[in-house]
Amino acid sequence: MNTVLVTGGAGFIGSNFVRLLLDRQADWKVVNVDALTYAGNLENLGPLIDDPRHVFVKADIRDKQAMEEVFLQHRIDMVVNFAAESHVDRSIMEPEIFLTTNIIGTQVLLEAAKRHWKVIPEDKYSKEYREGVRFLQVSTDEVYGALGRSGKFVETMPLSPNSPYSVSKASADLLVRAYYETFGLPVNITRCSNNYGPYQFPEKLIPLMLANCMVGKGLPVYGDGMQVRDWLHVSDHCLAIETVLLEGKVGEVYNVGGNNERANIDIVKLILRTLGKGEELITYVKDRPGHDRRYAIDNTKITTELGWTPKYTFEQGMDETIQWYVDNQTWMEHVVSGEYQAYYGRMYE
Ligand code: NAD
Ligand code: DAU
Repeated sequence: MNTVLVTGGAGFIGSNFVRLLLDRQADWKVVNVDALTYAGNLENLGPLIDDPRHVFVKADIRDKQAMEEVFLQHRIDMVVNFAAESHVDRSIMEPEIFLTTNIIGTQVLLEAAKRHWKVIPEDKYSKEYREGVRFLQVSTDEVYGALGRSGKFVETMPLSPNSPYSVSKASADLLVRAYYETFGLPVNITRCSNNYGPYQFPEKLIPLMLANCMVGKGLPVYGDGMQVRDWLHVSDHCLAIETVLLEGKVGEVYNVGGNNERANIDIVKLILRTLGKGEELITYVKDRPGHDRRYAIDNTKITTELGWTPKYTFEQGMDETIQWYVDNQTWMEHVVSGEYQAYYGRMYE
């Protein structure tokens, strides 16, 4: 029996993770802390809201008092920190909240975990922690920066982030490292490539293109559309996180990716073909400032040391994902109302 504090568990990956974990670990409990920003949505959790093994707490990870309460009220064994501002374009428009949530929020959680897990909290030299505790920081391949035509990201590469978002994530990674090096907190960091799948907020490439395509609206492709991302189905990412929680060596960083590089324009064309729409919907728009040209993950470490491999092929994953968005148009209508329209207007019109 483990009690896992999942932060950001009402967002895209977090909600998929909570569902997967409670499905696979029958006697585990999840305390789900989410501030319910524009990206957090209780609808993503469905019937889990009433599951006795799932406790939802609406709170901000930057709020020290609230995080202290969570640790006092529940005997937390593990933290999986998904909570973040996650969209690069928003970080270009409004960087500040990325710094407070992604950096300060992570530090607040690290500090609470250290205080509650340390056997002798008042001894600054002690590195002895309660048995079985673990802090897993969900990071991103974007911390490595951009690649040219060849090569892949490996865990030992220097960090070279380019956007306010990726800088905030890299800073959080360095704080996690500091808590390991200085205080001996048992940590791991996972750095995953681009995810796709159900419940992704339609500000990101795949659900945005699907949402527009379904209503016959233009599909805004940045620049020449030849930027490359390494796509992974969200459930494979969640399985990788579970693997690291159970098997990861303390203090280690693990890259997560499925060897699945695709140019943006090819994904847009795949969506159009699958939904039976014509390419005249493609609208080339001005490029994202500082747009990273290519990401690609070398996943040798997690596959050889921990035995994780992705289960989905891209074809199967995209077929299922497109069908999910077609079948869940009410979900889409709910999330694109209100704040989304204002964002879309500022961003694209
Ligand atoms: P998301 O934007 O869909 O969800 C983020 C969640 O965090 C939301 O539920 C939001 O309400 C919550 N949140 C935001 N600020 C908060 C705060 N201050 N306190 C508490 N909760 C807060 O993001 P996502 O795509 O699910 O990404 C989750 C994590 O995975 C992020 O840390 C992101 O950097 C990382 N990641 C994402 C991808 C990807 O392709 N989406 C890939 C690699 C890593
Ligand atoms: O690599 C992991 C990262 O992937 C995560 O850390 C981020 O949280 C996640 O948002 C994602 O970042 P990207 O910037 O790669 O994802 P996004 O879906 O915003 O864009 C994917 C590609 O598509 C990118 O090259 C920009 C392009 N794009 C995106 C949008 C929203 C377009 O051409 N048009 C668009 O309208």
